[in-house]
Amino acid sequence: MTDTSSNQMWGGRFASGPDAIMEAINASIGFDRRMAAQDIAGSRAHAAMLAAQGVITDSDADAIRKGLLTVLSEIQEGRFEFSTALEDIHMNVEARLKALIGEPAGRLHTARSRNDQVATDFKLWVRDQIDAADVGLTALLHALVEQAEAGADWVMPGFTHLQTAQPVTWGHHMMAYVEMLGRDLSRFRDARARMNECPLGAAALAGTSFDIDRDATAQMLGFDRPSANSLDAVSDRDFALEFLSVSSICAMHLSRLAEELVIWSSAQFRFVSMSDKWSTGSSIMPQKRNPDAAELLRAKIGRIFGANVALMTVMKGLPLAYSKDMQEDKEQVFDAADSLLLALAAMAGMVGDMQANRDALAAAAGSGFSTATDLADWLVRTLNLPFRDAHHVTGTLVAKAEARGCDLPDLTLEELQEAHPDITMAVFDVLGVDNSVASRTSYGGTAPAQVRAQISRWKEMLK
Ligand code: ARG
Repeated sequence: MTDTSSNQMWGGRFASGPDAIMEAINASIGFDRRMAAQDIAGSRAHAAMLAAQGVITDSDADAIRKGLLTVLSEIQEGRFEFSTALEDIHMNVEARLKALIGEPAGRLHTARSRNDQVATDFKLWVRDQIDAADVGLTALLHALVEQAEAGADWVMPGFTHLQTAQPVTWGHHMMAYVEMLGRDLSRFRDARARMNECPLGAAALAGTSFDIDRDATAQMLGFDRPSANSLDAVSDRDFALEFLSVSSICAMHLSRLAEELVIWSSAQFRFVSMSDKWSTGSSIMPQKRNPDAAELLRAKIGRIFGANVALMTVMKGLPLAYSKDMQEDKEQVFDAADSLLLALAAMAGMVGDMQANRDALAAAAGSGFSTATDLADWLVRTLNLPFRDAHHVTGTLVAKAEARGCDLPDLTLEELQEAHPDITMAVFDVLGVDNSVASRTSYGGTAPAQVRAQISRWKEMLK
């Protein structure tokens, strides 16, 4: 919608309005309306502070407060008419306030600029997303710990290079993700603490000559303190970048777990059954149960990585202080936040509802010569062989078993002794997978007692 008259908010020196294309490239209202609640919260704090400082009258502040509440309910109830000519959420709200309350609305922008306003709104919005990610991550951590607890001593193959390496427990594998995602949780909390400084009052870039109280607005908006440099305050988007980079690492973890779920739910692995709630069927192959949620989650992560790169690119060439380039910060972050929160919720649902297949895990744990390292360790410990020699002896036994088409515990004592004459029946104790995992009692190891200790520690922390 093109308006040939100049902009009512800043058009004093303009004879005519913008070209339609200019309006299209300039407007952000199509997306920044998502920050309406934050914008109104910021304006309410600003108006209350201006009145407390005697910059505006109490009655004007009261009219502004009531008017802003009306605007908020109009927006929340979908009754608000957004205007592209008014560019962005800040001017849409203020113009509507003017229509509702008249002259006092014009006093709201005293000692403020859209530059500190947008920085404040956006920071409040990102902070809300961090709080939501905190909740989502915590739910996922609970679901993983529950899975770990149910199968703390269930054996499964541990892999390196996706080749069977050594037996581990299901609980240990689940708890590995708890560690990863737990670091994400702590990164989100660190980022929140670091970003929690209020830009409001930095005004356009230089601060203001009005006697404002930045501590008061910071406190009203739940910030720890006002930001200390007005140029930095209006040109800083580190908080959004940090959200995106922390989200990227978290998303990468979610994608790795999604990848495992896709592999594990295949007919070749059958390590887990995904619940019907998180699977889809095929329109042609009646037997199919596809792990679509895990696949989509794995793919959606690309949006978050993309947003991170996009915003870094937007910011990298900008001189101080605000530049309009920075308006391009929001859509990327909105989309990344939506993707992250959806991925967290989907993963918590999938993990909570999936069924580990204990028998398939155990069968796989015992195949692939998974206890070869246990055999080599036994040769070192019992026969005092140097590890390199023990490794070689074990290698010849693996080759023998492979040739016979059996696993290590299926070899006879005679066959074992062909590789080393001093091997005794006692070796069979370490060739079983349960004994193997039970023996790995080093701190952080896969022995069920170690795994249970980590489960208790996390349950305590997640309380
Ligand atoms: N819509 C703008 C943005 O998102 C608000 C700030 C505009 N400031 C300005 N000086 N034109 O960045």
